[in-house]
Amino acid sequence: MSVTHAPETADVLRRQDPELAEILLGELERQSTSLQLIAAENFSSPAVLAALGSPLANKYAEGYPGARHHGGCEIVDVAERIAVDRAKALFGAEHANVQAHSGSSAVLAAYAALLRPGDTVLALGLPYGGHLTHGSPANFSGRWFDFVGYGVDAETGLIDHEQVRTLARSHRPKAIVCGSIAYPRHIDYAFFREVADEVGAYLIADAAHPIGLVAGGAAPSPVPYADVVCATTHKVLRGPRGGMILCGSELAERVDRAVFPFTQGGAQMHTIAAKAVAFGEAATPAFTVYAHQVVANARVLAAGLAAEGLVVTTGGTDTHLLTVDPAPLGVDGRTARGLLAAAGMVLDCCALPHGDVRGLRLGTAALTTQGMGEEEMAGVAALLAGVLRGETEGQKAREEVRELAGRFPPYPGQ
Ligand SMILES: Cc1ncc(COP(=O)(O)O)c(C=O)c1O
Repeated sequence: MSVTHAPETADVLRRQDPELAEILLGELERQSTSLQLIAAENFSSPAVLAALGSPLANKYAEGYPGARHHGGCEIVDVAERIAVDRAKALFGAEHANVQAHSGSSAVLAAYAALLRPGDTVLALGLPYGGHLTHGSPANFSGRWFDFVGYGVDAETGLIDHEQVRTLARSHRPKAIVCGSIAYPRHIDYAFFREVADEVGAYLIADAAHPIGLVAGGAAPSPVPYADVVCATTHKVLRGPRGGMILCGSELAERVDRAVFPFTQGGAQMHTIAAKAVAFGEAATPAFTVYAHQVVANARVLAAGLAAEGLVVTTGGTDTHLLTVDPAPLGVDGRTARGLLAAAGMVLDCCALPHGDVRGLRLGTAALTTQGMGEEEMAGVAALLAGVLRGETEGQKAREEVRELAGRFPPYPGQ
């Protein structure tokens, strides 16, 4: 089977449903011929995709291994036990729940395990990179809990630790959340632990973004500090789309019951098997090399964009992601995203700390999986700036992107 087995899948699909087969192949073509700079995306391995597309998808398995509500779970039970054991070993956690369907489901379950509706929660404010589940009025979190937002320093872009401490003392939250969709620096988990202890709050680390770097030893781990760690298994970790929760033994039962039966039904066994595969991959020396290369690439990309005149939040990055303001090149974030998309550079807009400005968020997880290194990142920075300045004509940029992507196929031999 080739890395993506997508063409084979497409053959089966084409016979039955040509319309969908074209979509599958079209998306594969899009991913292979453009640059995936969305910080939350990556290319899962063929083994992960194989598990996802396996007959395990047919199995209903409400409950936990050894205690299911459905018959015939002997084999999928083993898959879940392997996933749990691998997650515990990979992250040094006493307990792992691998059933959360997504990062948001993991956060919902963490709140359900620790909080009551109406409780106060302190989290990074949405304008500064908090996730929807950190108190957005459009999300269950903002409706069911009383969120107080801390921010980042407008000048440095760094988390305002003094403000965190002050707000914690005055609001006495039941939980403090640390974690972000766009914070490019390491989070000081020891600091958050200290503040949480001072005010008697739980500490929830939403490590959806950095967890893959943690697995590869390229970022500090929240596990020794947080009561509960929520994470996604996609992003840098390179597994299937899904969620995961890590905690100590004392909270294990509460967390498990918060996932099932409180917020979810049957476990998705194909996804859990794919998570197990990804945890196995993440435990290899090759993944450690990968995780460090992701960060090295992000640093070169940040430095390259800064040299081209874009404003890089916090002056750089410790992680796989960076946020930039393209305004000095004469375009706002939204316009920039459109221009870059037309050139085949796919990325997101994001809020920036200095006022009401839309910037760009970029990540290097996917390009690094393709095998690109620092040299290519320097080239991407130059090309991106050339497009935004209007120096590189759109069609020419698209050709350059196609050529670069063509040299680093995400699924070689497909
Ligand atoms: C910090 C954080 N929490 C939660 C999530 C939600 O993950 P999902 O999209 O899988 O629900 C994300 C996704 O980007 C995230 O960055």
